[in-house]
This record gives sequence, structure tokens and C-alpha cells, in this order.
Amino acid sequence: MTTPQALGPDLDQAIRAAVALIRRSRHAVALSGAGLSAESGIPTYRGANGLWTKFGEPTIDGWELFCADPGSWWEHVLERREGSEFGHAIDIAEPNAGHVAMADLEHMGRLAHVITQNIDNLHQRAGTRSITEIHGNRAKVRCMNCGGRDRLETISLDRLPPLCPECGGILKNDTVMFGEPIPDDALRECYRQSAIADLFLVVGTSAVVYPAADFPVMAKRRGVPLIEINPDETPLSDIADVAVRAPAGMALTAIVELLQEL
Ligand code: OAD
Repeated sequence: MTTPQALGPDLDQAIRAAVALIRRSRHAVALSGAGLSAESGIPTYRGANGLWTKFGEPTIDGWELFCADPGSWWEHVLERREGSEFGHAIDIAEPNAGHVAMADLEHMGRLAHVITQNIDNLHQRAGTRSITEIHGNRAKVRCMNCGGRDRLETISLDRLPPLCPECGGILKNDTVMFGEPIPDDALRECYRQSAIADLFLVVGTSAVVYPAADFPVMAKRRGVPLIEINPDETPLSDIADVAVRAPAGMALTAIVELLQEL
């Protein structure tokens, strides 16, 4: 058991303040990012060991290339998929204590919805049900015509680009690329949740990618309190009511345990 007293006075105080806000809320919404899955062995994008710090940012013309020639784009993606360090890390990852604690919060009625920027499916595997994947899901494909999603493994890749079994539209992987519009259904749900949230938890994100980073700001403008869980500061730190400066697994586990005490 993680005793908050064992965490040091500042962290203990921050966790208790976070718990007090969670207890008062009726519709808490979380925005999660790569830092939450770091403890599952999936590298973050930015920061010291970040994927892009090591290998550079991906090209920003991916969406244009897909639109120009979806078949060649698929061939390229399938060739590269085999050797991808990031893809392999996701394939072998298991949900960690942070994912489990967020699922526990939902089951306890303390967390109404998760907006995740992660594409790794770990929230769902830990038991979270109410979730919007604003940047898609690596294991899925999405139809460019009807917006329907399927698991990649259920789709025949004999002919590229693969076509939607429902409407015959061109399929793309569900992961949102630079330059690609966020799918309408996901975006609408993010705005809806941000409009009804009465508390925002921002977990493991550098909060530099939009529109995701804007949702907590929109809520804050309505006076909604904001809890940040991140070992490091972010552009949202200045407007956070409570900053829990700890890894998500430890912080969220301590929060759940305190909530269970009373
Ligand atoms: P980043 O890599 O930008 O940021 C990760 C954040 O996690 C940093 O602020 C770290 O301090 C924090 N962090 C690291 N370890 C942590 C831990 N154990 N517990 C809690 N926090 C920890 O990742 P994102 O903010 O998710 O989009 O990046 C946003 C988007 O950038 C991604 O979804 C991706 C990229 O563009 C697409 O690819 C569409």
C-alpha cells in the first residue's frame, strides 16, 4: 500500500488536495498522454528519452502522401511496421498501475471520461470504458468515407489500399497523422466532455499538442479546477490548482487508496 505519508510532505499534500477535489466533483474528465504509458515501457515522444528526441519528428507530409496515393502509402507503412521500435514496445506492453488506477476511479464513480492522446489501447485493457482516443488506436483502421473503425487484424491486406467492408471507402490506419484532421466523432465528444466537466485531471502529457491541450484550458475558463499529474512542469502548470509531481502510477494509486479510506 502506498502511504501518502511515505511520499514526502509536498507530495502528500498535493495528493490530499487532489483527493479533496475529486471527492467534490460529479463529472471529472481526464486528459492522458504518453507519460502514463511510460511505466509500461512505451517511450514518450518528447523529453530526455523521447522517441522524437532520439529519432527526430516524423515528416509532416504523411497525410498529403496518403491522400495522393493511399496504396503506396500502405505499402510503405506495412514495410516499416515490422522494424518499428515504438510499435514493438506497444505490442508487448501491459497496462501499468496508473492505467489500473484510472479504471478503478471510473468504477468507483469518480472519473466520468478519459480523453487519451495515446494510441496503445492500454486504458481499455485496464478496464476503462468511457474513453475517446483523440489520436486514434494503433490496432485499428478507419474508413475515410463512413468513419467506421475495425481492428486491423480483421481486414484483408491482399489488395492495397484495403477497402471498407461496409461502404467500400478507402481505409487508413486509425492513428491520426500530422496534418490529418481529428476525426469528427472523436473531436465532438472531446468538446462535449470538456463542456460538462467539473474537474480536469491532466496526466502524463506535455500539453503542447492541439487541440488536446486546449480542453483543460476551456474547462478552466469556466472555473473548473485542474489537477496535473506529471513529474515535470508543462505549459498547463501555471493554471493547475494542484500539481502532483510524481510518476502517474504512484500518484494515481495513492489517490485511489485515499479515496477508498473513507
Ligand atoms: P510527450 O512525449 O509530449 O510528453 C510526455 C509527458 O509525460 C511529459 O510531460 C513527461 O514529463 C511526462 N511523463 C514522463 N514520465 C511520466 C510518468 N511516469 N508519469 C507521468 N508523466 C510522465 O507525450 P504527449 O503529451 O502524449 O500525437 O504527446 C502528445 C502528442 O504528441 C501525441 O499523442 C502524439 C504527438 O504528436 C500524435 O502522434 C498524433
